[in-house]
Amino acid sequence: MNVLEVTALNKVYPGKVHTQALTDIHLSIEQGEFVGVMGPSGSGKTTLLNMVSTIDQPSSGEVKIGGSNPYRMKKKELALFRRRQLGFVFQDFNLLETLTVAENIVLPLTLDNRKLAEMDALLGKVAARLNIKDILNKRTYEISGGQRQRTAIARAIISEPAILLADEPTGALDSNSSRIVMESLEDINRREGTTLMLVTHDPLAASYCHRIVFIKDGKLAAEIHRGDNRQAFFQKIIDTLSFWGGNGHELSSIRV
Ligand SMILES: Nc1ncnc2c1ncn2[C@@H]1O[C@H](COP(=O)(O)OP(=O)(O)OP(=O)(O)O)[C@@H](O)[C@H]1O
Ligand SMILES: [Mg+2]
Repeated sequence: MNVLEVTALNKVYPGKVHTQALTDIHLSIEQGEFVGVMGPSGSGKTTLLNMVSTIDQPSSGEVKIGGSNPYRMKKKELALFRRRQLGFVFQDFNLLETLTVAENIVLPLTLDNRKLAEMDALLGKVAARLNIKDILNKRTYEISGGQRQRTAIARAIISEPAILLADEPTGALDSNSSRIVMESLEDINRREGTTLMLVTHDPLAASYCHRIVFIKDGKLAAEIHRGDNRQAFFQKIIDTLSFWGGNGHELSSIRV
């Protein structure tokens, strides 16, 4: 089954300078897939993610998640749909500083009026999965960047969303924390079967995906698949990026 079905999607930002940010995008993501989106700065990656995450409206075309079109929903229904079907992870974590790690993680469930015992059970499960059980009572300013991102991921998956959407989740992290965060996402995908869509500039982070689509000037330009070997995939990503005008100059110092 396809969790995500994007058909003939176009996005134009009107204004003084009219920007055609996406042109005729077709993209399906199957249940359990881990898909990366790469491309040069300004190519439309965040725009695509925002159309899928219902943050912003397409100009034309269709987005279906789990078979339903969120853009046809009424406001209340959409709010519920977002909370239950979509998980979000951002570069800058978006955690609430006044809350503890545990309180941040269960926040979506609190908004959903779930029972305490149920929240506790789910909290225990995601905290174990992300290896953050020891820091649950800390405030978010008392933990490292990698721990913050794992907290944000725990919050994003606690409602067991149909798809987890991540925009540059390793963008603010050093290479070691990035690796741990990517290993956590891989683990969630493998063990829970969570479907993932990841926007990233980082070829190393991208090498954890099953499949990567490349966007250039708002159009899908290429698609590559990972075999068994992550190292080989990493090389393929770098080759594809340099071919399609990625950020080749940034890559010289990166090693797997
Ligand atoms: N809210 C907006 N209003 C007008 N134009 C926008 C808006 N958001 C993005 N754009 C334009 O749309 C195009 C695609 O932007 P987008 O943010 O999707 O790129 P991106 O691939 O995510 O880039 P980056 O890698 O730098 O994050 C760019 O030309 C950008 O300037
Ligand atoms: Mg972006």
